[in-house]
Amino acid sequence: MHVSDEPSQFSRDDNASTLFLPDEAATLAYGASLAPFLTPGMQVRLEGDLGAGKTTVVRGLLRALGYENKVKSPTYTLVELYVISQLHLYHFDFYRLNEPEEYLDAGLDEYFQGTAICLVEWPDKAGAYLPSADLRLELSLERNGRLARLSAFSEKGRQCLTRWKSSAV
Ligand SMILES: Nc1ncnc2c1ncn2[C@@H]1O[C@H](COP(=O)(O)OP(=O)(O)O)[C@@H](O)[C@H]1O
Ligand SMILES: [Mg+2]
Repeated sequence: MHVSDEPSQFSRDDNASTLFLPDEAATLAYGASLAPFLTPGMQVRLEGDLGAGKTTVVRGLLRALGYENKVKSPTYTLVELYVISQLHLYHFDFYRLNEPEEYLDAGLDEYFQGTAICLVEWPDKAGAYLPSADLRLELSLERNGRLARLSAFSEKGRQCLTRWKSSAV
């Protein structure tokens, strides 16, 4: 869906929101803006091509939560764990999974059963094994920046989206 010509920055769909991010700083700020609204046990899928800005969003988010060290892309490790005060957060990148079965073989399903917040790049590579998501963030190239479309798929996701929207003025 192409919404960048709309006068409002937000789309009108209550379960989704689209925002133009003109530069990297805007993507970091976008991630930071989401941080206060994520709740334990949520799964957020980050979709978009290589270089779309998925890891950049996670960097902004983690920094806003107070994480000061370098945020590495989990491309080679599949998962990075962050413990920030009481919050457990897993950042996944399934790009290198050749088959969805590797998700089970690597025991990745266990990470999704607890109260940690799970942020997942390339979720489709895990096929149907990945539990359903609360939120999906789709990033795409738009002019010299990025278009970020956030949509909700559960009650938790909708609550998060609604709170986040009403905070962003
Ligand atoms: N809104 C934006 N406009 C232009 N460049 C961006 C924007 N957001 C991020 N970038 C740049 O795009 C690249 C995205 O890299 P990364 O976040 O690692 O992407 P991904 O994880 O989706 O592969 C980085 O070089 C970053 O500086
Ligand atoms: Mg990445």
